Amino acid sequence: MPGLLLGDVIPDFEAASTHGKIKLHQFLGNSWGILFSHPRDYTPVCTTELGRAVRLCADFRRRGVKMVALSIDTLEDHRGWSKDILAYNNEESASGLLPFPIIADSKRELAVALGMLDPDEKDKDGMPLTARCVFVIGPDKRLKLSLLYPASTGRNFDELLRVLDSLQLTAERRVATPADWKVGNTSERVAVSHPSGRLHWYRLISVSPAWRLRDGSSRHV
Ligand code: BEZ
Repeated sequence: MPGLLLGDVIPDFEAASTHGKIKLHQFLGNSWGILFSHPRDYTPVCTTELGRAVRLCADFRRRGVKMVALSIDTLEDHRGWSKDILAYNNEESASGLLPFPIIADSKRELAVALGMLDPDEKDKDGMPLTARCVFVIGPDKRLKLSLLYPASTGRNFDELLRVLDSLQLTAERRVATPADWKVGNTSERVAVSHPSGRLHWYRLISVSPAWRLRDGSSRHV
């Protein structure tokens, strides 16, 4: 069955992109990665999403995360659309390209292989469009998180940064983050369950690359 499950190694595909040919594993190196798909070029919701992604580029970079977008149109379309995205979002780039690559999957081969299609959204020929898929890939090239939104619902990029913080913290420390946890606000507690049946709370006192936790309260659950 197509699609990826948590813990699967992301296929090491080769694809044409606005930044040249990409071999995914080589492109990612030892970094975290985020691969996000878009239904179609020159569509309004996708244009707002990619504009937001451009604005948040430094935030992803600070977390050591390489970004890659994918859409089922041609490189030529991607190049033209990139200019529109930058103009619409009041961003500039000398090359007219976004600071991260957009993969051209015009034959939908990757979209099918990675389970990214949305059966409810079709193009004028009745072919399914790509859903708004998010794969977060760890430095070990394994899938750490997968989100799948229908084409009709734009993503929340603040949430992507939030889950990255949790994924990176919990990859380094044996803790779990509670509901709505976010670095830098009052609910910055992280929890760990002890085999004894105690729920032990820690407070986060400094963030990546050297996460530090302060011991907090402990209670039975
Ligand atoms: C959009 O990005 O605006 C969009 C694309 C496909 C279906 C619905 C909306």
